[in-house]
Amino acid sequence: MTARIAIYPGSFDPLTMGHVNIIQRSLGIFDELVVAVLNHPDKRTMFTPQERCDQIQEVFADDPRVSVDAFAGLLVDYVAQRGASAVVRGLRAVQDFEYEFQMTMMNRRLAPDIDTVFMMTDEEHFYIASRTVKEVASLDGDITGLVPPSVAAAIRKRLEEMS
Ligand code: PNS
Repeated sequence: MTARIAIYPGSFDPLTMGHVNIIQRSLGIFDELVVAVLNHPDKRTMFTPQERCDQIQEVFADDPRVSVDAFAGLLVDYVAQRGASAVVRGLRAVQDFEYEFQMTMMNRRLAPDIDTVFMMTDEEHFYIASRTVKEVASLDGDITGLVPPSVAAAIRKRLEEMS
């Protein structure tokens, strides 16, 4: 049987426990998951694409079903290039829906054979967003449990470098 490969694309700036939860849940459905970090030159990010890939790789180092890569250009082209047929996206609250719906339908227009599978995070992760984690950390708030410990350390280090 051929392996069911899915792509989990995103900015991951940085990886949160919500993302970790979606990755773990996806592995119940797919045999392999490629976490695909968007490499967008215009996007202002706290971490470079390479740093984000390394952070995710470190968290999933013990799971051979998870691989990490950076991608640029159209997501549907990347999905085809990797031999995958599905995209995984996490859904948190109602406001995510509109953005996800637009993206999914645009991707479907571009590549009708590629499906997007939406997964809900566990309820303790429902409100976590990379943007708010960075904001809390930058204001000296406690981000324990919101991101993996190695990512929390990387955020603190980057904020020190920036100050
Ligand atoms: O974590 P994010 O920032 O919500 O992820 C957005 C992402 C990377 C999934 C999206 O921006 C994307 O797929 N970018 C690649 C460009 C593309 O294919 N655009 C067409 C779909 S609208």
